[in-house]
Amino acid sequence: MRDARVLLNAKALTHNLHRVREYAPHSHVLAMVKADAYGHGLAFALSALQDADALGVAFFQEARDIRALGNTQPIVVIEGAFSLEEWIESSKIGTQCAIHQERQLEWALQHIIPNATIWLKVNTGMNRLGLTPEQTITAAEQLRAAGYQLILTTHFANADEPDHPINQQQIDTFLTLKAQLEPIQVSMCNSAAIMQWPELHLDWVRPGIMLYGSSPFADHTAQQLNLQPVMSLKTRLIAMHQIAAGVTVGYGARYTTTRPTHLGVVAMGYGDGYPRVVDHAQVSINGQLIPIIGRISMDMLTVDLTDLSTSPNLDDEVVMWGGEISVDQIAAAAGTIGYELFTRLSMRPVRYITQ
Ligand SMILES: Cc1ncc(COP(=O)(O)O)c(C=O)c1O
Repeated sequence: MRDARVLLNAKALTHNLHRVREYAPHSHVLAMVKADAYGHGLAFALSALQDADALGVAFFQEARDIRALGNTQPIVVIEGAFSLEEWIESSKIGTQCAIHQERQLEWALQHIIPNATIWLKVNTGMNRLGLTPEQTITAAEQLRAAGYQLILTTHFANADEPDHPINQQQIDTFLTLKAQLEPIQVSMCNSAAIMQWPELHLDWVRPGIMLYGSSPFADHTAQQLNLQPVMSLKTRLIAMHQIAAGVTVGYGARYTTTRPTHLGVVAMGYGDGYPRVVDHAQVSINGQLIPIIGRISMDMLTVDLTDLSTSPNLDDEVVMWGGEISVDQIAAAAGTIGYELFTRLSMRPVRYITQ
C-alpha cells in the first residue's frame, strides 16, 4: 500500500500554544483555526487547543463546523456575517462576529443581539478589511448605544518585516483610536507581532502560524523561536535505479546527471500537495539530507541517493517536511510560505495523530 502520510503531533501544538502564553502572559489567546486549522485538521487541532480563550475562523461555515464537533469554546468570525441571516444565526450558535463594513453595522443595528461581543475592525493600513477610523468612531457609538460589547481590532500588513515603516503608521493610528474609544478591549497581534512587540499584546493576541510550528519570519527558523513542527509529511522510497552520467531524468528532461547516479523514486507529488515549483529542495532519508532532482510529477518525485552514507532500501522512509527539514525551507524553495503548503495539502496523504 502507498504510505504517503501526514503525521500530526498534538504535543507540539500544545507546546506552541504554551509558547504563545510565554510571549503574551497577560493577554487572552484567540487561536486561529481557519482553513481547517491551517490544513492540520479541525478536530485534531481543537483537541489540542482546549486551553485557548477563543477560536478564530474566517467565515460562518467554519464556525458551524466547530459546533458540529461538539466544541463550545467561544468562536470569533473574523470576516463577520455575509448576510443578515448569518448575523441572526450568530446569536444561535454563539459566535462573536467582526464588523468591518457598513452593511454589517446595519445588520447589527437592525437585529440587536443583546450583550453580544463585536470585533470592530479598523483599517489602519493593510487596506483589505476594516472601517476607516472615522467610521469606527461612529460605529462604536451606535453599537454601544445598542448594548453591544466591543473589541477594537486591526491586522498588520507587514508584521514579518519589523522595520517596515507601515508598521509604525498602523500602530499610531490604532493606538490613537484606542485612546479615543477608551475604555475598550483591543487586539492587534498575529504571530509575527506577538514575537516582536510585547508592548502591543494588549487584551487579545491572535496567533495562527506559530501554533502550527512554522516561522513567520524569513530570517528566523521555527527552531530558533522554540516552536515545534506539528505536521510531518512522510512517505517511502518505491524504486531505485543506477543510471549513467549524461542521462536526463523525468518530465521535460530538465535534469541531466553529471555522474553515474543512484536514482530514487519517492511516492509523493504535487497531487499530494508537494509543490511542483520547488527548486533545489531536499528530502531526508535515514537522517541524511539528499537533493530532489528533475521535475516533481503528480504522484512521484526523484532524488539523488548517490551520496547517502548508508545504503538505502526500498520502502525506506522519506521525510518531506517536519523533523530534519522544516516546512519553511520547502516553502522558500517553492517561492511561497509555510501557510500555503499547509493549506494546499490534498487529502491523498493519510492523516495520523501522534502524541
Ligand atoms: C485577522 C487575522 N488575525 C490573525 C491571523 C493569524 O496570523 P498568523 O498566522 O500570521 O499568526 C490572521 C491570519 O491570516 C488574520 O487574518
